[in-house]
Order: sequence, then structure tokens, then C-alpha cells
Amino acid sequence: MKATLIDGKAIAAAVRADLADEVSQLQACGVTPGLAVILVGEDPASQVYVRNKTRASAEVGIHAEEFRLPADTSEAELLALVDELNAREDIDGILCQLPLPRPLDDAAVIAAIDPRKDVDAFSAVNVGHIMIGDYTFLPCTPAGVMELLHRSGVEVAGKRCVVIGRSNIVGKPMAMLLLHENGTVTICHSKTKELAAICREADILVAAVGRAKFVTADMVKDGAVVIDVGMNRDENGKLCGDVDFEAVGEIASQITPVPGGVGPMTIAMLLKNTVTAAKRRAEKL
Ligand code: GUN
Repeated sequence: MKATLIDGKAIAAAVRADLADEVSQLQACGVTPGLAVILVGEDPASQVYVRNKTRASAEVGIHAEEFRLPADTSEAELLALVDELNAREDIDGILCQLPLPRPLDDAAVIAAIDPRKDVDAFSAVNVGHIMIGDYTFLPCTPAGVMELLHRSGVEVAGKRCVVIGRSNIVGKPMAMLLLHENGTVTICHSKTKELAAICREADILVAAVGRAKFVTADMVKDGAVVIDVGMNRDENGKLCGDVDFEAVGEIASQITPVPGGVGPMTIAMLLKNTVTAAKRRAEKL
């Protein structure tokens, strides 16, 4: 393979080591960062994500509390739990794993979380902060991508950046973060015409489509940096990203693998936001 691997696992471990030091300092001031993780229903992927988030929290010294609710939980019950957690002094961050089982409404729960505890940065207030470039809480997956770029020596300023995908969680905030670092950013989506030609112009290509091996070698410029946010199963049930890793790895200069690329970084940034929230609590003591 021609491309250098961007090792998200190792970079996330370095971020967690820095956070563990910060947590020790907070604990010396009598503050243990607290994260509440809410999981509604039995979705297997969500269960894995929640387990990984709780485990990573414990590793850096964050007190993570899991709240598992049955799939038939009513909106009133869920919002009552959020209210209770909003009021708890020892809880700095609240995360409700999405998507919620129907008919529960993701937006209603996001709106109910106190923006000062919204460590996913999903609330309208925090999305607004992101637009302005005032990062109280970082949007976890896009911030993880930026951290990978920084720690891999990739300069964004002046580069052509193409983001494939326009979700509120990844595509839109990703474009903002690249823009704030002076990239020239294009967002592509399912209605984009001549997608391959646009992608071929990218110095930095971020794939957040949710379709296995969607980005093929003919869509990538020689020497591009390729970041794969996807988490899919291929035809054999094997975990794979949005990028045809083998073929694109022969063209790109740097590439993230799946697993072991963006995934561990998303969790590291969640922990970072939780520590940020706890620092604010410590400042008020
Ligand atoms: N579902 C998929 N990604 C995420 C995430 O980053 N946070 C939450 N809460 N749910 C998700």
C-alpha cells in the first residue's frame, strides 16, 4: 500500500492519556467528572457504542453512569430522567445514544438536555456555537477528524476539502470545522451531480455516507488525504468503512482504517467535552 496509515487507535490513546492527567488535577480539587449515558432499547450497535463510551470514561477517571431503559419507554419518562440528570451536581455531561427507538423523538430529547451538559454538542445552542466558531463543546466525530489531521501533520488552510454526507452529527459540523481552519469546503450528498469529479478535486476527502465501500479509487486524487467516518458491514458481514480501503490506499497519501480510525477519536472527544464541563464546575467552586 502506498498511503501512510493514520492510526486513530494510537492517537486516541494519546488524547486519553492527556485527559487522564487533567482528570487527576480535577480530582485533587475535589471534582470527579461525571457522565450520564442513556440507552433506550436493545439495538446491538448502540449497545456496543455505549459500552465503549463507558469503558473509555472509566479509563481516564470519569465517573460514567449508564441508564438503560426499555424500548417501550414513554417520552415523558425519558424526559423526566433527563430533567433529573440536568439537576444533578455530580453529572457534568449527558449523552442519549441515538437513534432512539420509534416513536421516541431524537429532537425532543436533544432539546431537553441542558446545553451546558450537552457533551455531544447536538443542541441548537451548541450547533449555533459551532457555526460561530466558539467551541464550548466540540462536535465529537468532526473534532476527532480534525485531531487526526493535526496530529498527522496535515495542513487544512488553502486546501480543497470535500465532505460526502450532510448529517447534523457529522457532515455539516465537519464542513464548519474545516472552514474555520481556512479550507475551501464542498459538501456533497445524494443529490450531488458529478460526485466523482468533485471528489477528485479534494486534497482532503472526508467520507460520511454510511454505505460500504462507496468511495472508489476513481474518486480520489493522487496524494489526497482520505478520512473514512463510515462504519458498515460488507457482504461478508465484516466491519468496513465508506471507502474501498485496499484500492484507495494505493492512491491516497494518508488514509484512516476502519476500524481503528475515526471511531476511537469520536469517543476521545466525548471524554474531552466531559472534562471541559467538569472544569467549568470546578471553576465555580
Ligand atoms: N449515534 C451515532 N453517533 C452518535 C453520537 O456521536 N452520539 C450519540 N449520542 N448518538 C450517536
